[in-house]
Amino acid sequence: MKILVIGSGAREHAIAWKLAQSPRVREIIVAPGNAGTAREPRVRNAPVAVTDVDGLLALAHNEGVTLAVVGPEAALAAGVSDRFHATGIRCFGASRIAAQLESSKAFAKEFLVRRNIPTARHATFEDLELALAYVRRHGAPIVIKADGLAAGKGVVVALTQADAELALRDMLGAHSFGAASARVVIEEFLAGEEASYIVMSDGRNVLPLATSQDHKRRDEGDLGPNTGGMGAYSPAPVITPAVETRILEQIIRPTIAGMAAEGVPFIGFLYAGLMIDADGAPKVIEFNVRLGDPEAQPILMRLKTDLLDLIEDALDGRLDRSVASWDARPAIGVVVAAAGYPGKVRSGDVIDGLAVEPDPDVKVFHAATALDAQGRIVSAGGRVLTVCARGADIAAARDKAYAATAEIGFTGAFWRRDIGHRALDRR
Ligand code: AMP
Ligand code: GLY
Repeated sequence: MKILVIGSGAREHAIAWKLAQSPRVREIIVAPGNAGTAREPRVRNAPVAVTDVDGLLALAHNEGVTLAVVGPEAALAAGVSDRFHATGIRCFGASRIAAQLESSKAFAKEFLVRRNIPTARHATFEDLELALAYVRRHGAPIVIKADGLAAGKGVVVALTQADAELALRDMLGAHSFGAASARVVIEEFLAGEEASYIVMSDGRNVLPLATSQDHKRRDEGDLGPNTGGMGAYSPAPVITPAVETRILEQIIRPTIAGMAAEGVPFIGFLYAGLMIDADGAPKVIEFNVRLGDPEAQPILMRLKTDLLDLIEDALDGRLDRSVASWDARPAIGVVVAAAGYPGKVRSGDVIDGLAVEPDPDVKVFHAATALDAQGRIVSAGGRVLTVCARGADIAAARDKAYAATAEIGFTGAFWRRDIGHRALDRR
């Protein structure tokens, strides 16, 4: 069978790499893909953008694709899944309306409140003066979020009232995120440890994936600006079996049931970004309607079950009968980023050391990479690679990932040296 994977990040490289291991897959086309997907066995790229829905449909029809798997939220929010289904091509990814769980923070918060699902208290504002008055009344720490998609960067955790006011003036006054910040959500600050909990859903049933934890800040010690994610590992020790039961019963099942009850069945990957407090009580920070990036990379490295089987079970509405089996060994992924990330980055630098990958427990997933005129692999954006490794324990996985990372070089490359520190500290 021929599968279309939509996206171009390390997450999509991992999805394509995993699907290509299925004995039922003949070929995978990645649109638009990157230099890593281009050289993966049984995988090739097609230069179609993730939000070019007509272009993606034409590609799928011309190539005889029978299944599409969507990576990024932008494609889902553009209605890719709806359009594919309407033309008779199966597509795993949330519908445009269901994707609002991620594309509109206001929609997500209203849904959570309506369904009694634990989350931070919040209020929504379009008016700067009213928002400022609210912040003055509630004080800091407090969290300010642009309502629309801002690539993970529209969130300010304000530790002081002055920071909160500055953020509001920036978003509602100066419109620094354009339409995405015409409306802001102001939230209660949640204390605790963050974790990512991702499931596959067929609209009714859920199949939990292995737990994971991301490092969202750019700098070591979880400092510096927010990013799309600088590294991740799986499993997340903070999610004990008891905490996992609470997550499933208090958050995941009510979300899937609530969406179905409201006429918007959720079919796809559902990612709950959670804060787990000192008592092990989970609260939703955000939903994503897709796999996390970089979480998907270590998660898929641990998945032993055929991903195609699981996706087909989800599309057939029989995830209640599916089982995913996991490599017991932890996996870790270190993001190698280009100088300037998460701001304006330099690109076009030749990446050395990509040939070394002899260890079956090491895998380099590409994100922003491209081939230059001489056929060399060059950097082409902010997050360039995710270097992943499995190990007997989290320390062994980390050592292996960092040893592989040290082999790779391009001008201005940087990465955090403390990926996995929470899991390591817990031992
Ligand atoms: P979001 O884009 O909503 O996931 O927020 C980005 C990051 O901001 C999260 O990963 C958290 O680290 C932090 N954050 C968001 N909301 C809250 C909150 N209510 N309390 C504490 N931290 C938060
Ligand atoms: N790593 C967080 C995300 O994918 O949004």
